[in-house]
Amino acid sequence: KDLSLIRNFSIIAHIDHGKSTLADRLLEIARVTDARTKKDQILDSMDIERERGITIKSNSATFRYTAAHDGQSYILNLIDTPGHVDFTYEVSRSLTACEGVLLVVDATQGVEAQTLANLYLAMEQNLEIIPIINKIDLPAADIDRCMQLIDKTLGLDIDRAVAVSAKTGLNVDQVLEAITKFIPAPSGDPNAPLRALIHDSFYDTYAGAIMKVRVFDGVVRKQDRIRMMSTGKEFGVTEVGIQTIQMIPTEDLQAGEVGYIIAGVKSVEDTRVGDTVTLANRPATEALPGYRDIKPMVFSGLFPILGDDYENLKDAIAKLKLNDAALFFEPESSTALGFGFRVGYLGLLHMEIVQERLEREFHLDLINTAPSVKYRVTTTDGVVHEVSNPSSWPDPTRILKKEEPYVRVNIITPQDYLGNILTLVQEKRGEQQNLIYLDDGKVQVVYLIPLAELIFEFYDRLKSISRGYASMDYELVGYQESDLVKIDILVNAEPVDALAMVTHRATADARGRTMIERLKDLIPRQQFLIPLQAAVGSKVIARENISALRKNVTAKCYGGDISRKRKLLEKQKEGKKRMKQVGSVEIPQDAFLALLKSD
Ligand code: GTP
Repeated sequence: KDLSLIRNFSIIAHIDHGKSTLADRLLEIARVTDARTKKDQILDSMDIERERGITIKSNSATFRYTAAHDGQSYILNLIDTPGHVDFTYEVSRSLTACEGVLLVVDATQGVEAQTLANLYLAMEQNLEIIPIINKIDLPAADIDRCMQLIDKTLGLDIDRAVAVSAKTGLNVDQVLEAITKFIPAPSGDPNAPLRALIHDSFYDTYAGAIMKVRVFDGVVRKQDRIRMMSTGKEFGVTEVGIQTIQMIPTEDLQAGEVGYIIAGVKSVEDTRVGDTVTLANRPATEALPGYRDIKPMVFSGLFPILGDDYENLKDAIAKLKLNDAALFFEPESSTALGFGFRVGYLGLLHMEIVQERLEREFHLDLINTAPSVKYRVTTTDGVVHEVSNPSSWPDPTRILKKEEPYVRVNIITPQDYLGNILTLVQEKRGEQQNLIYLDDGKVQVVYLIPLAELIFEFYDRLKSISRGYASMDYELVGYQESDLVKIDILVNAEPVDALAMVTHRATADARGRTMIERLKDLIPRQQFLIPLQAAVGSKVIARENISALRKNVTAKCYGGDISRKRKLLEKQKEGKKRMKQVGSVEIPQDAFLALLKSD
């Protein structure tokens, strides 16, 4: 195997700038070229029908390309960076698997927050960067302006830039030429102990967890015994190979190559992205850089609306977890909502995706409590508590120190919206770190903000005050001390655990008041007066009453026909079933849903 003819690369871009479209087009063109030159081996075997029941979920692929500039036949490995939108920085470390990247910029949009985040990542790894200006078929495309941005704002070499339309295929062959010309060949010692970096892994019902790897040193073959360097767990290799459109088994995978390993691993938790695979009988001494534990950052309680669904929910989360190492869950019980789970996610988007899948694919009706971050609370006995559930906040009289996670947020916006955005970040307790005027009338602002504020109505407001034009990216920077308090919501003097929240003292009054006002509209009147209170410790910060009234649902229907009356009664009966008892008060399930949804 000739390393000098291998190119390992990734495509990086801000969301929607055309990463997937470009990947598809590259593969398509490579296939056509190869059919024409008939020099290809890999792609020949691709045509062989091999029914294995494995669905390829990502855009990673190996393909051949005969370069026009030197007539050589190259093996190109396109490595897909995992698409977790939360925490680009943590996950995209799998860029370590390549020697170069295509940085795609939409010619109608210019540089956005994730363009920069991805660029910095590629630079950190010393990768060769080829700027790609995409969507030049659109009338609004401004290639000159984009070239200028690439030169001045990004500081990249515009001589290497290629302007393309991934949609029509215009100039995409020049991208392949640029890859073979400018991205360096991999280097690696095939005789050294094995070191293979996992850049992706996915679960297959038949084969178990399949690792996609880049081999840096050594060789891995079928029947080798491999060891995961982060956990020390060992597995027997049953197959190695490369992935074109299907997975093609090969003799071995050597230093510089990209391919897959199947080793009867039961769960993707054991094949973590960023981990290094070595051989059990000749282990490498040092793992490759790139391993960093992915930790859940946002937590919420998930409860089935129908109590009977608890087991189904448990099975469903466990199934999702098979393919998602970043998903965390443990049982939780709430007096108001019953039995459920505390689930940890990478971020809000991850949370939304997981919940949508649970509802859609597993047909579950769920109540999701307000998202929370993981606080650190030191009590007077010196113990540090990690609190990801507000209802388990320690007794305030025993608290010595309170800390919360902070993120660095990078926002790019047209200048017109700068004022609005600065107001928003200040309101969110942000500390300004940097403000840079970019070359195309946009501004980049960098702020330190508590993660808890970022997950509370930040993104939606950013989008609405900038008419959708601002983009953002964030990374965790660590914990800072903060004046946090827990707000209890009491219904008829009983605290409702599912509604407890932790916030900064400065925003506690407003948050408590909003909650009480909304709760007042959502709980129906009952035969007795119900006081609603928000309290911090023993101090009540907001109070409302729901006055007593016997509810007569049929009263509105005077003169109405009988069937309508019956329907209403029926509906009320159904609603009754879905009541949650809090002390002596019945709270409709819908009230919880409504309260928690808009948070
Ligand atoms: P995510 O997968 O969401 O991160 O987006 P992406 O960066 O992979 O972008 P994708 O390839 O899905 O393209 C986003 C949208 O832009 C799609 O609607 C594409 O059809 C469109 N698009 C991509 N390339 C071009 C192009 O060259 N010209 C035009 N007109 N549209 C394009």
